[in-house]
Amino acid sequence: MHKIDIELVEMTMDVMKYAIDRISASNRHIGHPKTAQELKVLVGETITPKGIGGEVAFNLWKKHLMNANVSIDHPRHLAFVPASPTRAAIMFDLVTSASSIHGAYWMEGAGGIFCENEAMKWMVSLTGLPEGAFGVFTSGGTAANLSAIVTAREYWRSLNQQNNNEKGLIITSIGAHSSVKAMAKVIDADVLYVDTEDRMHASNLQSKMESLTENQRKRLFAIVATAGTTNAGIIDDLKGIAEICKKEKLWFHVDAAYGGGALLSDSVKHLFAGIEAADSITIDPHKWLFSPYDCGAIIYKNPELAKQAHTQEGSYLDIFKDEGSQGFNPADYQIQLTRRVRGLPLWFSLAMHGTDRYKQAVERGIELAQIAGQLIEEMPHVELVREPSLSCVLYRRIGWNPEDYTKWTYENHKKGFALVTPTKWKRGDTFETVSRFCFINPDTTENDIKMILESMV
Ligand SMILES: Cc1ncc(COP(=O)(O)O)c(C=O)c1O
Repeated sequence: MHKIDIELVEMTMDVMKYAIDRISASNRHIGHPKTAQELKVLVGETITPKGIGGEVAFNLWKKHLMNANVSIDHPRHLAFVPASPTRAAIMFDLVTSASSIHGAYWMEGAGGIFCENEAMKWMVSLTGLPEGAFGVFTSGGTAANLSAIVTAREYWRSLNQQNNNEKGLIITSIGAHSSVKAMAKVIDADVLYVDTEDRMHASNLQSKMESLTENQRKRLFAIVATAGTTNAGIIDDLKGIAEICKKEKLWFHVDAAYGGGALLSDSVKHLFAGIEAADSITIDPHKWLFSPYDCGAIIYKNPELAKQAHTQEGSYLDIFKDEGSQGFNPADYQIQLTRRVRGLPLWFSLAMHGTDRYKQAVERGIELAQIAGQLIEEMPHVELVREPSLSCVLYRRIGWNPEDYTKWTYENHKKGFALVTPTKWKRGDTFETVSRFCFINPDTTENDIKMILESMV
């Protein structure tokens, strides 16, 4: 398996050809899932004692398996938070894999970590955090949020021994991403919600704080604000919330996993005022900074606190710490030990294209949301649920019930035309099913949006 022979050389060429075709394709299939049973019938037994051979396995991938995945970078894939990795970043993802780098410690991954850190310095500069702030790339926003919450909780416990026996408590809003609640569960912390999916204002938070019991107030250690909600692109009142956190001595985490890319945009940057006062910030390059999966990031105002929370101890690790004192050890600042240098594709793409091109691509996402908003206003069968925010647009098809949205989504997906999924928006005490666009891909055109809206007539 580890020998070099002619089969390996041929296979390498085939794989490279596939990668070149995929990277340079201008017309990708959107892809559609099949059931596991259907796939099994198509590909048969692939794991056997003698192996089925690379060529056969690869052909099965190309013929049957690849198309059962959704190409999340398709220009009419506007569901979820889509991705649109640059071709340069995808290419360098191949280089990252081929280079076999252990990205936990500087001693083993200095070259790769150096590049990651160059990209990270640029990301930190976008936030306006003070000198000394720094971060590390994670597997995604969930891992970044978890790393931050653990750091906050450990810091809170370090301030008062009695907190070691207390279950922590976090306040966020119902607009926060599901991972905040899920990661609080991982660390066995409670979560209280400010009941708004719209902008969480300082006054909303203040009222929530005033409603806490003495025990809850004692256990409260962090506030999680969102800078770009997943559902609607809303940015909380970061400035006001930061002031409360400062006054109440609470950790201020900003989840900008999706919205963080918009810090590049002159047109919306002012909406993030207050982010520079955060203790930690999540930004996912695999969302709006055009990196391939998976690449999140967590940035800390005081990375030393993250180090105290996350550094792993073991006699087999001591040597890395000795050497590591000459460099930066990403393992010390987040939950993972062995790690891919997953910031490397971002570094290469940034180095190749320059940061101006990133800015233009992000501005295009915001512009596409505005274009969609105008088209919706012009068409009689649809209407905006709220003004577009960042690159998210919520709109309703007048007269449709939830089943109509589901049917329309499935039909468009089955045809290979588009993947636009429904969501819910809270109005008063009820949740209305509506349709949602999230624009990331600068290759999406006005005509794509028009065609999707017209398919709702
Ligand atoms: C605001 C926000 N936070 C966190 C996450 C979770 O990120 P990931 O899926 O990379 O773990 C998402 C994902 O969409 C998100 O939009």
